[in-house]
Amino acid sequence: MIAVAIDGPAGAGKSTIAKTAAKRLGFIYVDTGALYRSIGYYVIKQGKSLEIKEDIVSCLSSIDIEIEFVDNEQHVILNGEDVNASIRTPEVSIAASKVSAVPEVREFLLGLQRDFAKKYNCIMDGRDIGTVVLPNAEVKIFLTASCEERANRRYKELIEKGEQVNYEDVLTDIQKRDYNDSHREIAPMKPAEDSVLVDSTGQSIEQNVQAVIDVIKAKVPEIK
Ligand code: DC
Repeated sequence: MIAVAIDGPAGAGKSTIAKTAAKRLGFIYVDTGALYRSIGYYVIKQGKSLEIKEDIVSCLSSIDIEIEFVDNEQHVILNGEDVNASIRTPEVSIAASKVSAVPEVREFLLGLQRDFAKKYNCIMDGRDIGTVVLPNAEVKIFLTASCEERANRRYKELIEKGEQVNYEDVLTDIQKRDYNDSHREIAPMKPAEDSVLVDSTGQSIEQNVQAVIDVIKAKVPEIK
């Protein structure tokens, strides 16, 4: 199986770009952020504190997570419930960032992520895919963009969804999450040493998809 790891900060366009590239190459696309989001969502729903590690860890024993694909779209099934529609709010974004700093949570999700790469040709996106989850991935890409551009994209996305947000808050959230994600002790977000950097600032989605496909084809010539 061929594994492509795409890591990078929130709002760099990883999911849109990875999803489109996967479709064109006939790979499956795995969004690992959705797994951390589901756990964050569950902790909130249980009324537990996101500031207390023991509270977060105590939730894990009652969590069962499965990934299903419907029309090529990933659905996270949390204890039998499809939570896709509930895990994209700003509140769950921050919760995901908090739970993702807990080693037990990362360990809990590791097997699920690795199993996918064993079974399918996949493009997996996250923060630590090239460094921790799939250190032997054939292709590793670190996809980034300026903070302002990422905040602007996320802001437009949320407004289109009808959320009441302002740009400054979205920018602050992105900066907070960047800080949390890259400063945590365990599996901090950083480019793998053997990764290729793709900067999506000022580029169209199509240009970015092409850049990613070019990197993949250059590393794995048997992909046509
Ligand atoms: O990619 P995303 O914004 O949906 O991710 C949500 C949070 O989950 C993000 O703040 C960092 C965390 N995350 C992680 O720590 N490791 C991953 N492989 C994916 C996401």
